[in-house]
Amino acid sequence: MKIVPQKLVGHKNFVRENPKSDRFVVKGFHHVEFYCGDALNVSHRFAWATGMRETSQSNLTTGNHLYSSRVLQSGDITFVFTAPYSKQLCAKELAPVEQGQDGLPAVPHPHFNPENARSFFDKHGVAVAAVGLLVGDAATAYEESTKHGGIGMLKPVRLVDATTGGVMDISEVVLYGDVVLRYVSTPEMPSDEKITDDEQPPQEGLKPFQGPFLPNYRPVEAPICTLGLTRIDHVVGNVPELLPAVQYIANMTGFHEFAEFIAADVGTVDSGLNNMVMANNNEMVLMPVNEPTFGTKRRSQIQTYLEHNEGPGVQHIALACDDIFHTLKEMRARSSMGGFEFMPRASDAYYQCLPEKFGEDLTPEQLQQCKELGILVDKDDQGLLLQIVTTPVGDRPMIFLEIIQRVGCMEVDQDGKVAQRGGCGGFGKGNFTYLFKSIEEFEKTFE
Ligand SMILES: [Fe+2]
Repeated sequence: MKIVPQKLVGHKNFVRENPKSDRFVVKGFHHVEFYCGDALNVSHRFAWATGMRETSQSNLTTGNHLYSSRVLQSGDITFVFTAPYSKQLCAKELAPVEQGQDGLPAVPHPHFNPENARSFFDKHGVAVAAVGLLVGDAATAYEESTKHGGIGMLKPVRLVDATTGGVMDISEVVLYGDVVLRYVSTPEMPSDEKITDDEQPPQEGLKPFQGPFLPNYRPVEAPICTLGLTRIDHVVGNVPELLPAVQYIANMTGFHEFAEFIAADVGTVDSGLNNMVMANNNEMVLMPVNEPTFGTKRRSQIQTYLEHNEGPGVQHIALACDDIFHTLKEMRARSSMGGFEFMPRASDAYYQCLPEKFGEDLTPEQLQQCKELGILVDKDDQGLLLQIVTTPVGDRPMIFLEIIQRVGCMEVDQDGKVAQRGGCGGFGKGNFTYLFKSIEEFEKTFE
């Protein structure tokens, strides 16, 4: 079984294979949880900027005296924003609190540690603390991961929703730095493929939890509004050394290498990086990892990130949509009113070349909209990719979002549904130089 990448060969020499080597059933991304200093404010800014709506919360009003946590959703995307309460009050509350004000268990994540959350925020600022994966069985995932080098952070624990009786199992291992990979499963979720003999069969009488995020958050009634964001496409990490990080991930999960890019593929004259993309069997979980390269005129932007983050962490999250022109128009309209801003548009020369390269893929009107909205276009041998990135969404030059639309690669999945193959259209290799140049220009604004 081919599992562990041993060296970088670059985009040109890399041959993509899918050995379907997952060590346990992985279905897709489940959520991303950010730690922050104030969940109300940060979640509301993300909601306004992206059109995600708040669907549930846990805080003082639900009897949670340890932390405030708010869940935003759009399509299949779940973002969670969590902030600990006062250190002094948390110390008093750390004695077990059985029930909150409306009968819900007061603390939905029973192993939440306010001191860890506080020091995480102190060190990293607003940053991703957990990447959640929907797996066949969180206990098996934990067992397999820790058996193959994964550092355990939370042994499998069963959560039961007090209102619905729905059950969810979670477990956590280190992903990189202070970020955990959180495995999530519900007992009746059917496995679409059997990988290990010890995967737990559905247990009779257990009802799967079907609400947003974790059990025992209180649902929030909010009008359904969306800017069209549908799913998490990929979550990218920055680390000081690429090979040990991807070997660790590949070993514990069985994920395979989906793509790679070296400095010669992606760098500008001034700065660069190396990158490997890890993927699960169905390639719907795509987890690229970057490392800085050195010896160039400018410091690698990955190194800038690592210094501001005080170590490894999530660099960006790509969110897919079905109509990027609509989504971008709406997001750009919010930019000057507290929404997210985008990296400067590419040059006119970039857009002058698009008709020749993509005239068969996009109409003249669509190409014109790409120029007006600053959307970049690329394709590989499988499909078309439309993409744009925001500037960092917080104070530090760290985490940003990417908005993408993949076109093509439609196929019938195992359930007979027509679905798009993961990673269709690649990762915008043709745009890398421009993207990194634009980030260099952005960095010059604070030098
Ligand atoms: Fe990306």
